Amino acid sequence: MRTNRTFTMLKPDALEKGMIGGILEKINSAGFRIVGMKLTQMSQKDAESFYAVHSNRPFFEGLVAFMTRGPIVAAVLEKENAIEDFRALIGATNPVEAAEGTIRKLFASSMTENAVHGSDSDANAAIETAFHFSERELF
Ligand code: CMP
Repeated sequence: MRTNRTFTMLKPDALEKGMIGGILEKINSAGFRIVGMKLTQMSQKDAESFYAVHSNRPFFEGLVAFMTRGPIVAAVLEKENAIEDFRALIGATNPVEAAEGTIRKLFASSMTENAVHGSDSDANAAIETAFHFSERELF
């Protein structure tokens, strides 16, 4: 079932570089409504579980180390066609390949340190949202 919500994280690199405001401005300007938001830090266990699908990939260890090294902003965004529109807004995983004007083109520095996450499907958005938020934290 298609829903109108997606899940995002502003990753540790984005917070370290003071980019929260700039990224949120892009998200708001693109017409997304923030329905949930928190500053949090993933534990080793959290990150291993969140990225379990990548556990056999060579970049997994580096990804977990990166995602646990500092706080993140976790958020749930609402907009018609949220999944596809948000992935278009953030751009390709690799910032070198990301289109001009996308969040990753503007704010990301590498394939791993790519500033933001965006869910790739409605099913994963629901799973990822439930990982970080309870129902009473969504508005
Ligand atoms: P994201 O799509 O948010 O979630 C999975 C993450 O794994 C992805 O962002 C990248 O940060 C990371 N990733 C995916 N592919 C690679 C790769 N080939 N090398 C390094 N990191 C990767």
